[in-house]
Amino acid sequence: MRKTVIILLVCTLAVPGLLFAAGARETEVRNQLEIFSWWTAGGEAEGLDALFDIYSSLYPDVEVINATVAGGAGAQAKAVLATRMQGGNPPDSFQVHAGRGLVDTWVVANMMEPITFIYEEEGWLDAFPQGVIDMVSDEGEIYSVPANIHRSNVLWYNKPIFDQYGLSAPVTIEEFFDVAEELAHAGVTPLALGDVNTWEATHLLESVLLASLGPDAYAGLWDGATPWDGPEAKQALDVFVDILEYVNTDHAALTWDEAAQYVIDGRAAMTVMGDWAHGYFMAMEQEPGADYHWIASPGTEGTFMMLSDTFGLPKGAPHRSNAVNWLKVVGSVDGQDAFNPRKGSIPARTDTDRDKYDIYLQSAMTDFAQDTIVASVAHGAAASEAWATDINDVISMFVSNKNVDSAASSFARAAKDHLSR
Ligand code: GAL
Repeated sequence: MRKTVIILLVCTLAVPGLLFAAGARETEVRNQLEIFSWWTAGGEAEGLDALFDIYSSLYPDVEVINATVAGGAGAQAKAVLATRMQGGNPPDSFQVHAGRGLVDTWVVANMMEPITFIYEEEGWLDAFPQGVIDMVSDEGEIYSVPANIHRSNVLWYNKPIFDQYGLSAPVTIEEFFDVAEELAHAGVTPLALGDVNTWEATHLLESVLLASLGPDAYAGLWDGATPWDGPEAKQALDVFVDILEYVNTDHAALTWDEAAQYVIDGRAAMTVMGDWAHGYFMAMEQEPGADYHWIASPGTEGTFMMLSDTFGLPKGAPHRSNAVNWLKVVGSVDGQDAFNPRKGSIPARTDTDRDKYDIYLQSAMTDFAQDTIVASVAHGAAASEAWATDINDVISMFVSNKNVDSAASSFARAAKDHLSR
């Protein structure tokens, strides 16, 4: 009898406790938002925080979980994300490049929810350029929200060093070699490269390919019209090898932002990097136009090699409605105007406030509106992730053995393989 009373007592106390615990877990589940990205470097982190600040001011009860995996261009994050997605453990929303990076990797695998309804509800179909919407669409549905437009083909340079040696920013590849020669002669490392994650070398190569081939033939690399082992592409590979003569000897040990820091510190005069480097310089309190300056990477003036960071809605997002609200923040005018000035990118929307952007970003806006647009391969816009990975594998070998013929035929094999899929 005593035993029964005790059991009853325990049950009476425990069951509500358990229910309460389950309820608490429920509430906890409902009130989180997990955002996955690789934005940890200077400028990147500030931009992301600006979006979180807006989200938190609108939804103060939601706990935001900043799930970042460090490594520029998603060098490590993409593999972690793939494991999570395949294991049925998606974040609520994740950073993904517009173009093949989104569509070929996630949409065709049927892992994303279409979010055309958000564009319709928010009136975004007229706010984003059609070309950008096309990059995040497949078979009539839209799958992600562009946070920005980044430019890949930019050469950043240390202004005081250029002034000290009376140098002008190199517009052409020939001018680049002249400037590099003068700097080397003066004992200054001409070009900072940090290719510890390999993609940074691909990043430099895409600018060199664009310079040598021009925009049409560059675009032809991605649809088979331009052979990777033809004389024009090989000439670009030759130029690339010559450029490597002018980079810092410790390039294989540095990240992109460490290479940018070399430019700040005057340990090197220039670096070719996307305009997230502008975000980094600003985060390091450098004055655009005074401490550093920029020009289209040599030989690419008039062409804007673009990429776009976007966020989508994975199927099975644990906090779906919180994720939908996050996407609304990312695509809002306020979201774009808070994020981009810190990130070093221009807004993807066309109706934002130009006055909120500094001199570099205003010049990028002007260029984006009038230049020829081509897609970056190092950042998911031009080719599938699988193809870009093969390109990274070839470049990693090429940077060390500098064998143009062998690189050209490996690139050509990769192109044939991926174009026939
Ligand atoms: C790019 C990304 C940029 C920036 C960069 C370096 O792939 O689009 O937003 O984060 O990597 O991490």
